[in-house]
Amino acid sequence: MKPGDFGENLVVRGLDLDRLRIGDRIRIADAVLELTQFGKECHDRCHIYQAMGDCIMPRHGVFARVLKGGDVRVGDPVAAMPSYTVALLTASTKGSVGDRADVSGDVMAEMVAEKGLNIIERIIVPDDEVRIASELERFADTLRVSLVLTSGGTGFSRRDVTPEATLRVVDRLCPGIPEAMRFLSLAVSRKAMLSRAVAGIRGGTLIVNLPGSPKAVRECLGFVIDELLHGLEILAGDVEDCAVTVKP
Ligand code: MTE
Repeated sequence: MKPGDFGENLVVRGLDLDRLRIGDRIRIADAVLELTQFGKECHDRCHIYQAMGDCIMPRHGVFARVLKGGDVRVGDPVAAMPSYTVALLTASTKGSVGDRADVSGDVMAEMVAEKGLNIIERIIVPDDEVRIASELERFADTLRVSLVLTSGGTGFSRRDVTPEATLRVVDRLCPGIPEAMRFLSLAVSRKAMLSRAVAGIRGGTLIVNLPGSPKAVRECLGFVIDELLHGLEILAGDVEDCAVTVKP
């Protein structure tokens, strides 16, 4: 059999599934699973629905792929191993139709991967405020990623709308992050003051805008990435105060 040919249902107790995110890992005995999906569409009500009058799969089903196989038996301990997940969005009308390589996306991907973050989606979208906002909402509400990084569309041109799209969807602003990026960038380029990048939180997701050039992405992200990681720990409730780690 090839990978993907076989599925198994596991009923577990005591795991707070609402705290998990796509990309998180679950260990059961020696086996390691990676969460890939929450809920599923019910196409034609199956025999479980017919027998029980309801099925929790569309609302509460949690789907995972096997990263490391092993024997799983009734009564085995189940442990969640949360990891921080990331979605990357490049706002570029030219890039979205294949007229420009997404080098800024490559730089974001390389830098977050170096820090051990798990990239679960990367997209290029046109400079369209509604489209960008809806992708940010999907990343935060459906994929429930820890961090969204955007690149591009933060300048003064009429088509630059990434900060406006971000402001549409965040519940809480994090002004310190773009303030630090601009302040530290000024030593490299005075033009750094021209980026209107914003950052904010939607639910459990931190969204941070970066400027569009690969050089600016490397500089701005490099200035803040270590502190961002600490912010993600606090947002996820993994540290109670700035010194104590709650979860490994
Ligand atoms: N920040 C850093 N660190 N380095 C840079 O080269 N470029 C600036 C600014 N921020 C730059 C930077 C320039 S020239 C512009 S116009 C703004 O980001 C907005 O860029 P964007 O429209 O590509 O988002």
